[in-house]
Amino acid sequence: MIRRDFFRNIAVLGAAFAMPSFTFNRQKEELEFIHSSSELDTAILMKRLDQPFTILHIADSHVSLEGDETEEPYVTWSKYMREINLPGTHKHFKTSAIVSPMDCLEMTLEIAKERKPDLLVLGGDIVNYPSELLVKTVFKMLTDTGIPWIYTAGNHDWYYPDEPGDKEELRQKWIEKRLLPLYQGTDPMFNSLIWKNVNIVTVDNSTNTILDRQLDFYKQQMAKPYPIVLFVHIPLRMPGMTMMRRRPESGDTPPVRQEDPNSVKFLDLVMQTPQLAGIFAGHTHENRVTVSKGKIQYVTSQGADGRYRFIRFGQTEK
Ligand SMILES: [Fe+2]
Repeated sequence: MIRRDFFRNIAVLGAAFAMPSFTFNRQKEELEFIHSSSELDTAILMKRLDQPFTILHIADSHVSLEGDETEEPYVTWSKYMREINLPGTHKHFKTSAIVSPMDCLEMTLEIAKERKPDLLVLGGDIVNYPSELLVKTVFKMLTDTGIPWIYTAGNHDWYYPDEPGDKEELRQKWIEKRLLPLYQGTDPMFNSLIWKNVNIVTVDNSTNTILDRQLDFYKQQMAKPYPIVLFVHIPLRMPGMTMMRRRPESGDTPPVRQEDPNSVKFLDLVMQTPQLAGIFAGHTHENRVTVSKGKIQYVTSQGADGRYRFIRFGQTEK
């Protein structure tokens, strides 16, 4: 039986929010969020939510395709990532069946069709590298669910191992060349969708940096009168965190690097957002919940073995 952890997040108000250029005028009680979570299901309750709604968060699916001929020009760069993610390489977390990450994504999208979330959020590393056929295949799979989706990239979405070049340039290159349809006309670097009076926000931090215009965008979101649910690929290094991931085979690894000045500014803004209902990330492939200074960050387990996070937004009891 899955152990359930219950905890309560009370947004920090007052002195911590000493930024006069942003205003948020709701009552303190309206900024209280009740969180309840297991590995696969998370509930966030808040006051004055007009209608309950649900989001299916999928991250780190790392899908590849066998015999992907569009890969030929890039085969040297993609070989390693393709081989570790083909059929027979993974065990489904629930059934223990030997599967491929693509099988797992198909199964998760079948669950989506059954449970009918209002929205899918693809949180990065869905494709293992930006092959033309792969991106087209995923686009069709998402379209076939009939469920609206938001896409934000992970480092693997635009990444061919060993391809030389600056990360920022590689991200731009492969977004423009391959990934663009997945964003459905929205800005790949950030997105804001007001859904039933909740602001669903994405910020692409997959290069471990934050751009000036992403900072400006986030400030604009802070000024809007809606609770914010923030999706990023790389977990934010919240105050007090010293270690981000632990894998049995590799032992403890250093904290996620977020040392560029804009990433520090971004984290400060996020931690000072009174209406922040929660942060959702991926990247480290393990279920983890961190509470720091009244803010909560969830890391969703890897989609490559069939895991996901189903997030339910509801209203607190009156
Ligand atoms: Fe990943």
